[in-house]
Amino acid sequence: MSNRKQELHLLCVGGARPNFMKLAPLLRALRADSRFHPLLVHTGQHYDHQMSGAFFRDLGLPDPDFYLGVGSGSHAQQTAEILKSFEPVVLDSRPDAVLVVGDVNSTLGCALVAAKLCVPVIHVEAGLRSFDRTMPEEINRVLTDAIADLLLVSEPSGLANLQREGVDLARARLVGNLMIDSLRRHREQAREQRMAKHLGLAPGSYGVVTLHRPANVDAPESLQGILAALLTIAADLPLVFPVHPRTRAKLPPAGALDGARLRLLDPLSYIEFLSLMADAAAVFTDSGGIQEETTVLGIPCFTLRDNTERPVTVEQGTNVLAGTTKDSILAAWREHGLRRPGARTPDLWDGESAQRCVRAITQRYLQDG
Ligand code: UD1
Repeated sequence: MSNRKQELHLLCVGGARPNFMKLAPLLRALRADSRFHPLLVHTGQHYDHQMSGAFFRDLGLPDPDFYLGVGSGSHAQQTAEILKSFEPVVLDSRPDAVLVVGDVNSTLGCALVAAKLCVPVIHVEAGLRSFDRTMPEEINRVLTDAIADLLLVSEPSGLANLQREGVDLARARLVGNLMIDSLRRHREQAREQRMAKHLGLAPGSYGVVTLHRPANVDAPESLQGILAALLTIAADLPLVFPVHPRTRAKLPPAGALDGARLRLLDPLSYIEFLSLMADAAAVFTDSGGIQEETTVLGIPCFTLRDNTERPVTVEQGTNVLAGTTKDSILAAWREHGLRRPGARTPDLWDGESAQRCVRAITQRYLQDG
């Protein structure tokens, strides 16, 4: 590549909860190399303390250099706010590249601003595809990858998907999973947190639930079917459910669900959740990242979706696609239970992904790369 630089000024963007555990190890690795000058931009897509501030604290993230305060809204409103508020930041700070992670609206919004200003976009977690365009994240993934200059990929399916879409693989690198860097770094701290004990639960005696995907929680019929399945499973295995704010707004009134066998909690911080998940017998979730974390922890995962953009967690890890209806979830629970024969950790999910990202960025943009 021409115009290689001696040093690199980078804007690194995060906005929503799952972005922060990917940015923390990467910023740490970039800051340790004097050729990089990373600045952190928080769009403010997530703003509650439990959705954002507690994650910064747990992960040791520095205060953001720029806070855009975009807040909630419809997809169009939120993305428009991101576009409007990020453009002046790029114009003023004139970075050599903008780095975005994951698949949230902040990822796409900031990538679009950068690409239109001819600033190269680096996309971490590129290439993942659910092939379900009703998911807002799938739109964000496809579009971000289409305008990214350097594509850093977490699992082999990502490279295959990018190749199929005509991306020159010279611009893509399999770097492993940054979220697992954070998990490995904080595993011991999470063990010491003893969340299960604080909740009066014995390790291995309960399941954990998370649920926030619009397709699952926004339509009352879907949510009711999932809750009915969970209440049945709770008769076998008590469940603990830290509730995302989107979901909280859709659940029946307080007290109607909450009981000894299905306990609702406020959202947890990173360390608290990692502690609770690591001691669980099983996890029931519609999150993307939790499919990966359970695979590394060896905890059986039931993904409450019909597809996953993270197929390695099913092919190699502990993940099972359980669908989203009462019948499909209960059928998966009865078929698989707590057994996951042959599950293993995917290659390069070893806690060293940040170093690989830094090497890939060096090779593409720096003179001695
Ligand atoms: C977003 C991401 C999703 C990611 C999830 C993790 C998109 C399209 N979706 O979904 O990929 O898995 O974050 O949590 O970017 N709210 C609060 N406090 C907050 C943030 C949100 O109360 O700090 C409430 C608001 O009512 C808001 C709703 O949650 O309208 C949804 O927030 P939003 O950022 O739009 O999407 P998420 O569902 O969190």
